[in-house]
Amino acid sequence: MIIIGVGCGPGMLTRQAIHAIGIATIIYGSDRAIEIAQPFISPGCVVRTIDDFKALHQLPEEAVVLSTGDPMLAGLGYLPGTVIPGISSLQVAAARLHIPLARIAVVVAHGRGHEQGMTETLEEVQRGKIVYLLADPKFNVEELYRRLSALSSRPLRIAVCENLGYSDELIITGEIAAPPVPKADLYSLVIGNF
Ligand SMILES: C[S@@+](CC[C@H](N)C(=O)[O-])C[C@H]1O[C@@H](n2cnc3c(N)ncnc32)[C@H](O)[C@@H]1O
Repeated sequence: MIIIGVGCGPGMLTRQAIHAIGIATIIYGSDRAIEIAQPFISPGCVVRTIDDFKALHQLPEEAVVLSTGDPMLAGLGYLPGTVIPGISSLQVAAARLHIPLARIAVVVAHGRGHEQGMTETLEEVQRGKIVYLLADPKFNVEELYRRLSALSSRPLRIAVCENLGYSDELIITGEIAAPPVPKADLYSLVIGNF
């Protein structure tokens, strides 16, 4: 199996990724990953949308699996096989905001990990790290802001990063006293002293 990072938006695939996609005969991916990779998929290639992520381990040896962003950032890089990196939303956010990656701690608040994501964010901010928080649309951003407001760590800035890499990309930055609130479903947060 080959797991390919297709980047967090269009035009963020490496040449290695484009080549591997071009010679693939069977490709699996989310709708968003397939859309990003579409220009590089050969006409005869079978393309299947992933319905059941738990069944991915049973895919055939020749399968190519697309993962949005980079597979090793909360992506499909846990699958057995060769991983081809892609440009992650973390890299794009860090580039846009001019934050060195070494200052950043990654926190994932997806699905059942919301509460743990909140706890880890508070811990990392108190350690002086800038948190890059990956969150799904159901994550309670207001509750996180409420908990962050109670911390003594100052200054504390928040950037809401929406649709990174897409034509409607939007990054809004503010202070914790009047923090920006995400409006798009695809968003991440940068939190800390930056
Ligand atoms: C399952 S994680 C996968 C992350 C992906 N592997 C990457 O490298 O960015 C999905 C979460 O990443 C963040 N994300 C992914 N792509 C994004 C984008 N283009 N703009 C903003 N946030 C993004 C969002 O928080 C989203 O809910």
